[in-house]
Formats: sequence, C-alpha cells, structure tokens
Amino acid sequence: AMIDKGNHRHFMQKEIFEQPVVVAQTLQAYLKPLDGKVALPIPEFDLAEVKRVTIVACGTSYYAGLVAKYWFEKFARVPVDIDVASEFRYREPVLEPGGLALFISQSGETADTLAALRHCRAEGQKIAVVVNVPTSSMAREADLLLPTNAGPEIGVASTKAFTCQLAVLAAFAANLARAKGKMTAEEERGIVQHLAEAPAALNAALAHDEEIEKMAPLVAVARDVLYLGRGPDYPMALEGALKLKEISYIHAEGYAAGEMKHGPIALIDDSVPVIVIAPSGPLFEKTVSNMQEVAARGGRIVLISDAVGIAKAGDGAVATIEMPDCHPLIQPLVYAVPVQLLAYHVAVAKGTDVDQPRNLAKSVTVE
Ligand code: G6P
Repeated sequence: AMIDKGNHRHFMQKEIFEQPVVVAQTLQAYLKPLDGKVALPIPEFDLAEVKRVTIVACGTSYYAGLVAKYWFEKFARVPVDIDVASEFRYREPVLEPGGLALFISQSGETADTLAALRHCRAEGQKIAVVVNVPTSSMAREADLLLPTNAGPEIGVASTKAFTCQLAVLAAFAANLARAKGKMTAEEERGIVQHLAEAPAALNAALAHDEEIEKMAPLVAVARDVLYLGRGPDYPMALEGALKLKEISYIHAEGYAAGEMKHGPIALIDDSVPVIVIAPSGPLFEKTVSNMQEVAARGGRIVLISDAVGIAKAGDGAVATIEMPDCHPLIQPLVYAVPVQLLAYHVAVAKGTDVDQPRNLAKSVTVE
C-alpha cells in the first residue's frame, strides 16, 4: 500500500503521533490483560536456562537496549552485557553456554548487527531478535522472533519503532523473570497493567506538542545542547541528543547526570540549553542537584518531569514540560515523546530536511 503523510507535514511527525496506536498494537501481541500475564512466543530453547543476556544493536535501537538492561537485571536478575554492534564484533566477547544474544533493529538489515548475530550463532548462543520488518534477514535468523508492530517507518530518525521496541523489551524482561522464578504472579499482573497504560500516557505526552513547538527557538539558536538523566533516563538523554543531532545538525550530548561534573560542566554557560529528563522518584533529588550545578553556571534548563517534579524544581528552569504521572516502567516510552518533539520542532525551525537528513540512511547495510 502507498504510505502517505496524511495531515502531517513530515513522516517523522506522523510517526511520532502514531505512537499511542502502534504501541497498543504491539502490546496486544504480548499481553493478556485479563489473565494479568505476558504472552510471548514460546522459544525452542528453555528461557529458565538463560544465564546471561548479551544485547547488540546500533543507533536508536541500541538505546532501547540500554533501557532494557535495567529491566532484565531488575526483574529477571540476569547479568546483561550490551554493546554497539560495530564494537561488539571486533572485540573478543566472552560468550559462554547458556547465553542468550538479543538483537534489536528496526530494519533487521543493519550490516553490523546482522554480522554480530551470525557471530553469536556460530559461538553457540541462542538468538532473540526484536525487529520491525518481519521479512528481514534478522527475523529469518532468530530462534525467538519478537516483532514490533510499528508499521513501516519512513523518517530516517527512528521514533515509533523505538517506543515499540521498549514495549516488547519490557514484556520480554517480565517473561524471562517468570521463567527464572524471579517474579510472582502479582508482580507480573502489575507489569501487564502498567504496560497497558502506556498508550494513554503517550497520548497525554503528545498533548504538549504546541508548547514544545514554542520552546524550539530557544534550542534552535544553540551551538551545543546537553541532555541529562539518571537510571533509565540516562539512555533517554542519549536518545534525545541523538534525535537532535540527526535532524537539526546541532551538536548535542547525552550524559549521565552524575557524571557531568567530570567533564561537560566545563562547557556550561548561558548559551547552552540543558535538557533535564527527571521524573519524580528515587533518583529525582540527585538529578535536581546536578541541575542546580548547571543553573549556577548560567545554563538554560528545560526540565522534563511530572507535576510533582516540576512543583519541586521547576523554578530553576527557563522552561518545563509536564509529563503525565506514570509508573516508572513506562516512563522511558512516555519521555521519548517530548525529546522527539523537541528535536522535530527545532529541525523545522532550522529548515532542515527532517525526513531525509544529510549524510544519514534509514538502513545502514555497509560495515
Ligand atoms: C540508522 C538509522 C537510525 C537507526 C539505526 C539502526 O542509523 O538512521 O534511525 O536507529 O540505523 O537501525 P536499525 O534498523 O538496526 O534499528
């Protein structure tokens, strides 16, 4: 079928706005809300035997893997190793029996990721693949195929494939936790319920579109932008910076908020917007103290948080974006929306080619 932009100016914008629907569509295949259970395809190997998970991916898919590492370790108590495919291939990773190698890819064709998959297969690892193109090479070579149901993604910068990857990875982590006897039925019911709340929370996040469009000029004039977060919001900071770089050509860096004092704080002055991703919760106070270090040096803070967080720390910011109050499990999905929208509107303000940014390809089939 012909894919068009509908009422949207760009494919990327259309794909950002599709997220509530495609995440719901994806979750539908993995959740049984009435039973309070996750329901994954049954692999040919025994998940209970998995001793270690090795995650390999590139670009935005790699950042989905970084978030998933928190979930696999927290829920299933399985050690996780993660690397970008182009590094993984050329080091000598230790791949022991009982290892599950997990590849994440929108296209299923990224050359480095595919080569890493084949290497892991040759080394006797079980192969799980989270992929958006069901007919792709990676899909065909999986022992456990976990499709995302995002539909075709046209914009070069990945958006809806990313949030769908996160949804699948959360369900997979819960499934592995159950298989390994690390999760009670009650905990599983909770995870299913929180994931089922994601589409509505994504809608609530999208409602901030116009407000984010209005703050785009603040970022569009910058030469450098810093994104900060802790825990699963650290990969979200990396993803925010990547989105901005890819489509607006502004230099951006994502940093673990606590690591800022070991380097990037030297860059801060009143010309540097600092995007702080900090939902209220156990890590909030620590991130706020990092935010205050930025403010003390004149950095212009955009705080992305919830009502509680903004009430506590919004005063220190030049702008705030209020996300709906949601369970920590789905925060990475929900907080993806404002960073995508910010990058999108900054790129539009700068007049770049949003869907086909210079020098980038949708699918990188060279090594
Ligand atoms: C390219 C795309 C990115 C994508 C990355 C990985 O760089 O521009 O948006 O995240 O490849 O692609 P994959 O298809 O493996 O997820």
